[in-house]
Amino acid sequence: MAAEVRASLSQRPLPSLPCKYFYDERGSALFDEITRLPEYYQTRTEETILEKIAGEVIDAVRPRELCELGSGTGRKIRLFLDAMASRGLLSRCVLLDISEEVLASSAERLAADYPGLSVRAVAGDFLEDLPALGPGGSRLALFLAGTVGNIHPDEVPAFLGSVARQLEPGDGFLVGLDLVKDPARLHAAYNDAAGVTAEFNRNVLRVVNDRLGADFDPEAFEHVAFYDAEAAWIEMRLRALRPLRVKVPAAGLDLAFRAGDEIRTEISCKYTRASFEALCAGTGLVLEGWYTDPDSLFASALLRRRTGGAEGPGRP
Ligand code: SAH
Ligand code: AVI
Repeated sequence: MAAEVRASLSQRPLPSLPCKYFYDERGSALFDEITRLPEYYQTRTEETILEKIAGEVIDAVRPRELCELGSGTGRKIRLFLDAMASRGLLSRCVLLDISEEVLASSAERLAADYPGLSVRAVAGDFLEDLPALGPGGSRLALFLAGTVGNIHPDEVPAFLGSVARQLEPGDGFLVGLDLVKDPARLHAAYNDAAGVTAEFNRNVLRVVNDRLGADFDPEAFEHVAFYDAEAAWIEMRLRALRPLRVKVPAAGLDLAFRAGDEIRTEISCKYTRASFEALCAGTGLVLEGWYTDPDSLFASALLRRRTGGAEGPGRP
């Protein structure tokens, strides 16, 4: 973490912080609060889609193992576990998340609520630690909430390739995608009236303080979130309200901020079917199903591992 934070805060012209560091116990609770905000349509819209399609997806993939990347509270996975149980397929489930506290409690709750289900919790980074899932086969992996949007689009093909390597031909990967839409709606979702997203944003500074001994004053930074239509992403930043000196001892940093200086804390990409499908090319995963709500706010994309190498066509 020290090396990553050192590298990202040293970037110019725009320093950044990795968005995975939002999610300590407080950050995960704040995200949970975000999912219930009136402006944040993503969670309830995805849940409506998943309620409709869970059975169909289970029938198509016939998995014995469900695997959720960035599982958080593990609420949505229950829709799929129920569909597996009613088909006599319920067997194994693996949760992978960076947030150890949330991971442990959601794994415990699933094990208690689904007798006979083997639950494995993997604390790790989905950009680096997917081999910890072990070899695929009869596996359906889930990546919900639009979290793929928090990965830079340039890195998405490599990420999809690394998922493909943990799957066998016929295995499935269901990906939640927030769709391109009216910028005003997107702006509202990341600038909620109650200020919960602002607190979530500032939480990354608290995490850096706790873990690396930094002395950021979170209240000295204001929340900024705007839609970049060209990049098709929401960008979240923290803007210094006054001149500040900040030390991050474990990362060997002594930083000077002028009033107005910004740190990028998150991108949240918005996709269309075409823009997402383009990123799948050559990854070993093929788009097989595309499910949306009536207002086309959100989509669930069902990818299948193709036969042949994860490297895709054209490679030796
Ligand atoms: N799947 C849940 C939670 C989504 S929030 C839902 O649909 O509501 C994003 C989740 O991904 C959080 O639980 C966070 O801790 C986790 N996360 C974020 N970055 C991560 C990373 N790089 N590796 C692993 N988990 C990560
Ligand atoms: C987890 N992820 C999909 C959320 C998003 O919308 O990009 C995180 C979030 N950031 C601000 N609000 C919610």
